[in-house]
Amino acid sequence: MPDKKIIAVVGATGAQGGGLVRAILGDRDSEFAVRAITRDVNSDKAKALAAAGAEVVAADVDDEASLTRAFQGAYGAYCVTFFWDHYSPDKEGAEAGNMARAAKAAGLKHVIWSTLEDVRDFVPLSDDRMPTLMGQYKVPHFDAKGEADQIFTDLGVPTTFLVTSFYWDNFIGFGMGPARGADGKLAITLPIGDAKLPGIAAEDIGRSAYGIFKKGPALIGKRVGIAGEHLSGNEMAAAFANLLGEEVRYNAVDPSVYRSFGFPGADDLGNMFQFKRDFEDDFRSVRPVDETRALNPSLQSFSDWLRANRERIPLPA
Ligand SMILES: NC(=O)c1ccc[n+]([C@@H]2O[C@H](COP(=O)([O-])OP(=O)(O)OC[C@H]3O[C@@H](n4cnc5c(N)ncnc54)[C@H](OP(=O)(O)O)[C@@H]3O)[C@@H](O)[C@H]2O)c1
Repeated sequence: MPDKKIIAVVGATGAQGGGLVRAILGDRDSEFAVRAITRDVNSDKAKALAAAGAEVVAADVDDEASLTRAFQGAYGAYCVTFFWDHYSPDKEGAEAGNMARAAKAAGLKHVIWSTLEDVRDFVPLSDDRMPTLMGQYKVPHFDAKGEADQIFTDLGVPTTFLVTSFYWDNFIGFGMGPARGADGKLAITLPIGDAKLPGIAAEDIGRSAYGIFKKGPALIGKRVGIAGEHLSGNEMAAAFANLLGEEVRYNAVDPSVYRSFGFPGADDLGNMFQFKRDFEDDFRSVRPVDETRALNPSLQSFSDWLRANRERIPLPA
């Protein structure tokens, strides 16, 4: 479709980028076409994207020249990094820089950068309410993204800063789902006290990004926060109980306890949840659900998402 505007999608075989690819390809009348970026054009996922109608090209976010080639001739790009693949905020910052410079070199008209807060703007390194990690971060996977915003701005890349939320999919893939305690009761464990947590179905991030591309220039230079619903631990536990037909409790632990759980990234996530708890108003106010729904009319609530994913959430033995 040579008359369609091409959106180059980083992470096209993953959660955020995949949602955007499916949103564009699912809209037969879209003004946009998809260029899916992958490291391996021969993978099953890449072949499936090609079969679904995407142009599939190879590039790596660690290789700026490959990104510049992949962005060439496109109208826009969706830019995302993959912290949990390497746990390195420095690498994440370098990758964001590669994407921003490639976007500039290719002369893109609209870029969406998938970002989060730099928690150090709220909790300076000198504030010992939470430990400083890796010598210079409070929440490494947030801080690196927030710090990278400036690269897009300084280069003059026409960027919308998409401020994402906690994926409810973490309850399936990240080991955060209901688990049975020593008492035999099901519980979800989170260190957020009574705070409400903005969450979203991962698929809805890409759908919301599609809404941003459709709105176009009006959202360039803007920060757009998104969420499907803001829910307390008790409310999420109640929704699980309703789905599973069994009592599910909310086990509120202190962030220091969560940090000590010992799995890779537990300290980063413990600090993250503490930030969301201690700065609940700031954190929630930039993620309005109504405005997200205006961008993405099919936005799912937590209960919608649970029902749609019932098969993926087995009742723990
Ligand atoms: N989990 C949450 O609650 C949450 C919330 C907000 C933000 N985030 C952020 O979301 C980001 C991850 O996004 P996601 O969930 O969409 O990722 P994902 O589902 O893990 O997708 C990763 C995809 O990106 C591609 N990829 C990986 N490394 C690459 C590289 N070096 N160059 C080019 N492509 C590469 C891979 O595709 P190929 O193998 O095909 O190349 C893979 O399919 C993280 O930075 C995380 O901090 C997560």
